[in-house]
Amino acid sequence: MHDLKITRREMIAASGVSAAGVAAGSMVAAPVQAMVARAPRAETVSTAKVTLEVNGKPTTLELDTRTTLLDALREHLKLTGTKKGCDHGQCGACTAIVDGRRINTCLTFAVMHDGAKITTIEGLGQPDALHPMQAAFVKHDGYQCGYCTPGQICSAVTVLEEIKQGIPSHVTEDLNAPGKFTPEEVRERMSGNICRCGAYSNILDAISEVAGENA
Ligand code: FES
Ligand code: FES
Repeated sequence: MHDLKITRREMIAASGVSAAGVAAGSMVAAPVQAMVARAPRAETVSTAKVTLEVNGKPTTLELDTRTTLLDALREHLKLTGTKKGCDHGQCGACTAIVDGRRINTCLTFAVMHDGAKITTIEGLGQPDALHPMQAAFVKHDGYQCGYCTPGQICSAVTVLEEIKQGIPSHVTEDLNAPGKFTPEEVRERMSGNICRCGAYSNILDAISEVAGENA
């Protein structure tokens, strides 16, 4: 710890700035400008080719390696159905289905998914040919502003698959029993998808209908 102590005077001396210069406020700018001029230039952006199959269409993008999958979908492929809510993995608005599993696309880099098959809300259905889950959301009034809805629907479709495959959740009591549809299972599995409008009960009704169950 002792080694880390450095006085203000030593700091000024080390940076080549005279004490007199610092004392005069009008003279502070010159050394700062000199330091900025000496600062190393920004490094060249590192890019990579990423091949994805998005909604059945193969596509190759040249991306900054820091591009999230969400930005690759929205900004590069113009698939704006997938929403950016929090950009921090907290709301689920950006959920898409990647190789059969739902993920928060804001939390992962596109380069990590080279070769992946991705389904976004646009790939599930279209206005004239809705996916059964989309139709059920409409029928049960499962949305208000609709901002969370693409993520909710992508999650819901995958949740039913998870239950069918017997993948347990935090509330599954018997880990060895076949997957069972219950409202508790759906609520738990959908808990990463936040709806500020509070359409939760209607969302549960929609998912239950597609599952052929009563909520
Ligand atoms: S935008 Fe990804 S979880 Fe909120
Ligand atoms: S419908 Fe508005 S946030 Fe869910």
